Amino acid sequence: MKEILGIDVGATGIKGAIVDLDKGELITERIKYPTPKPATPQSMTEVMKQLISDFNWKGKPVGVGFPAIIKEGVALSASNIDDTWLNFPIVGFLNKKLKCPLNVINDADAAGLAEKKFGGGSDKKGLVILLTLGTGIGSALFYNGVLLPNTELGHLKYKDSVTEKYASNSARELKDLSYKTWGKELNKVLNHIEFVLAPDHFIIGGGISKKFEKYKEYLDTDATIEPAKMLNNAGIVGAAMAYTLM
Ligand code: BGC
Repeated sequence: MKEILGIDVGATGIKGAIVDLDKGELITERIKYPTPKPATPQSMTEVMKQLISDFNWKGKPVGVGFPAIIKEGVALSASNIDDTWLNFPIVGFLNKKLKCPLNVINDADAAGLAEKKFGGGSDKKGLVILLTLGTGIGSALFYNGVLLPNTELGHLKYKDSVTEKYASNSARELKDLSYKTWGKELNKVLNHIEFVLAPDHFIIGGGISKKFEKYKEYLDTDATIEPAKMLNNAGIVGAAMAYTLM
């Protein structure tokens, strides 16, 4: 059995658990800390260090899902985290500070990989788009099961800004929108994405996937749509899977 510590780094919370990669399941409790403000490399790394100590995991394999574009070990965006992450060599820095063998990928790609393998997307053909609706909107695109990494559908231009400012869960909370009003906004964003990419299937992830029943009646995409089966654990399981992609 392959056991990896999965750390799902978000703009609001940083969560970790030991994951059984054969089953795609958490084999320990999930520990969550608030993301420090400002969310700098130093402050966020301290939280990851704490998780490694909580799980007594020093020197053992770690996979991280991180809310930015990650290419060749470097963070290439910083939307809801401190600007100092921009062009920051995240893998080298974490290796040095955490003293563990590790890998980092985009958080939504991580959630997508987990959902695709262990959740609801495994039997889907064609273009499958998983959207994580949280502080921002993350996206993972799979064509016939193959991931196209680092897509940023939360940053598609939309109205006077970008889609995540209207259809993320934080937009709903910030503007205190009813599920009906927010659901209709999400539907417009999904229709926009549908027009641009013509997906076959959408998967809605993030914490709000648990409340799918409350807004599904406002969604009328041509593509089929369902909530992520792994709910919020996809982020941690997918983070652990990132380690195997090294
Ligand atoms: C970031 C993405 C991330 C998403 C979800 C967006 O603001 O740009 O990289 O996947 O939030 O955390």
